[in-house]
Amino acid sequence: MRQFTEDNLTDEVVARLKGVKNPRFKQLMTSLVKHMHAFAQDVKLTEEEWFEAIKFLTAVGQKCDDKRQEFILLSDVLGLSMMTVAINHKTEPGATEATVLGPFFAHGAKEYGYGGDLREGATMKGDDVWVSGKVAGVDGKPIPGAALDIWQAKADGIYDLQTDGEFELRGRVKANDKGEYAFKSYKPKFYSIPMDGPVGDLVRNTTNNHMRPAHMHAIVSAPGYQQVITHVFVEGDPYLDGDAVFAVKNSLVAKYKKLGEAEAKKVGLPAGSFKLEFDFKLSPDKAGAKKARKKIAASDAVA
Ligand code: BEZ
Ligand code: FE
Repeated sequence: MRQFTEDNLTDEVVARLKGVKNPRFKQLMTSLVKHMHAFAQDVKLTEEEWFEAIKFLTAVGQKCDDKRQEFILLSDVLGLSMMTVAINHKTEPGATEATVLGPFFAHGAKEYGYGGDLREGATMKGDDVWVSGKVAGVDGKPIPGAALDIWQAKADGIYDLQTDGEFELRGRVKANDKGEYAFKSYKPKFYSIPMDGPVGDLVRNTTNNHMRPAHMHAIVSAPGYQQVITHVFVEGDPYLDGDAVFAVKNSLVAKYKKLGEAEAKKVGLPAGSFKLEFDFKLSPDKAGAKKARKKIAASDAVA
């Protein structure tokens, strides 16, 4: 067949997917082609605009390396990451809500036990904080040995992966045999998403915010439970209602309080330090759910 027009081109592109064996891949490609063609027709896409988009996507790809994931950032600022989280994580009542992974997760962080110090080797100081809580199932049963992958930005709002430095302010914290976890860190601060690449240019051309409210990231996992990829935000942060990547959930906003003098001494932090108490609740694993989520984290996050 030849002589395609606006009226029959979409059908022909879709028809050529007829023999695709993997049904899910076929469904994804068919829908993608239909939506892209409908978009082009809807906005009457010009050739200049088409080429601008090609140049933009090329720049996004070129900005990616083993430490920088500009495509995740693009997905985040367009709300696609949170839309995918929302579709896939209709949280069971009581379970910790999921939110975006973001571009700064890294495998291979050091393991810590109860009370571990994530400030080790930090090149920049912040307000000391004792973070503690429990990991339990939605039934309230503690989960001994649950793992919490924690990462956060330094006091200047920059992640270790954005510099040439070693891992900083990240670690894999193991809960004790009562499902309790604790670690020392710095109180997170709000920061800007990376604005020095093509996604920054895009954001500057819109009226979206480029700030993220202060938060620490956590991936909480345990055998027999669904892994949750989430954040804990700082109550009172000025950007909670304007997060650049739409990731804030009320249940994930927590209060950083001041440690009493005796409490601070007990945990080995200076007077005036903060404490954060936050419990994580996991849903029981449903066949495949954990596997699928893990695959996303492993393949999309930087190595
Ligand atoms: C982050 O929190 O690390 C993050 C998430 C999405 C985009 C940029 C940064
Ligand atoms: Fe972050």
